[in-house]
Amino acid sequence: MMATQIQENAARYLMNTYTRLPLTIERGQGCLVYDAEGREYLDCVAGIAVNILGHAHPDIVEAITRQARQLIHTSNLFYTEPQTQLAQRLVEHSFADKVFFCNSGAEANEAAIKLARRYATTTFGPNRFEILTMQQSFHGRTLASLTATGQPALQEGFGPMVPGFRYAPFKDFDALEATLTPQTAAIMLEPIQAEGGVIVPDADYMRKVRKLCDERQILLIFDEVQTGMGRTGTLFAYEQFGIQPDIMTLAKGLGGGVPIGACLAIDTVAAAFQPGTHASTFGGNPLACAAALKVLDLLLDGRKLEQGRLAGEYLAKGLATLAEKFSCIRETRGMGLLRGLELSIDGKPLVMECLERRVLINCTMGHVLRFVPPFIISHQQIDRLLTVLSDVLSRRK
Ligand SMILES: Cc1ncc(COP(=O)(O)O)c(C=O)c1O
Repeated sequence: MMATQIQENAARYLMNTYTRLPLTIERGQGCLVYDAEGREYLDCVAGIAVNILGHAHPDIVEAITRQARQLIHTSNLFYTEPQTQLAQRLVEHSFADKVFFCNSGAEANEAAIKLARRYATTTFGPNRFEILTMQQSFHGRTLASLTATGQPALQEGFGPMVPGFRYAPFKDFDALEATLTPQTAAIMLEPIQAEGGVIVPDADYMRKVRKLCDERQILLIFDEVQTGMGRTGTLFAYEQFGIQPDIMTLAKGLGGGVPIGACLAIDTVAAAFQPGTHASTFGGNPLACAAALKVLDLLLDGRKLEQGRLAGEYLAKGLATLAEKFSCIRETRGMGLLRGLELSIDGKPLVMECLERRVLINCTMGHVLRFVPPFIISHQQIDRLLTVLSDVLSRRK
């Protein structure tokens, strides 16, 4: 089918929830995607920080294919080996003791919110139910994860929101402390606000938040849906701050493109979930878990984590050079391969101009260009991105 026909059909048959770029992607290989005419694009969006090992990685394709032949789905009424293996691997490489599997970031956050509330209300009494989240955060689009999302514009028209949430400005410890109430059960935050414009807190703030949670017996939830699985250069972003959360959520990169989410927690907290308290029909199905197991293998044993870290350093240097050259760049920030360029101008036209030059990038908050390429991106490919960026920025100077 012609790309134009596909786009017309999308307008006719799909609910109108996305502003899509005028590109129909037919296939992908490594860091490149191709349209139906065979035109090649460098993919620095990577499914919004999902395809961490690129497209069609042969080992992931092989793992999924083998698992699909053997067993795709069983429900959680039975045991399967890939699910328990994946849980074991995640536990062995994180602070956590137990894992609950689901299918997306929003669902992982729903699980985290429910777990925190159940733990706090059963441990401290029915009034400990409040979840404190950050302004400008992004936690998903289901009702509770949308309530947790500190962006009123995204909540518009969906009210009333779920009761029991409060918001504090990110990176402001005193304001956070002032927002706590005797009802606060948990503080929930993204170690780097990704959708919020790649906002990086300093380690001192993060350590103070951890200490505050310890002192007040408040749970600390890290939403690592975007920052987890090596995106920031370590397997999980919390490692960079020298602290550990009590609950962490993962999705995006976990399955390398196959939908899977996870909520991880320490034993004492995880014990608040008992049979019948939370569930997911598809969560942790063998197909998704086989993909995630292969992703973890490649990150840890295949040294892709390190490759991503090095690529991140190279990209950071290149972006810093651009920032020196172009006055419309206010700041360059990020960690690993989660990088942002804050502009003093509208970023969306630049995304379009990069697309015309066959490079896919993304823009958050209207003026922050975001780069979340696969970890296997080569220096040459990063140079291609930087050249195209320089070209489109030079028209603004
Ligand atoms: C930090 C964070 N949490 C949660 C989500 C929601 O994930 P999903 O779209 O898989 O529900 C996202 C998606 O961008 C995210 O960046």
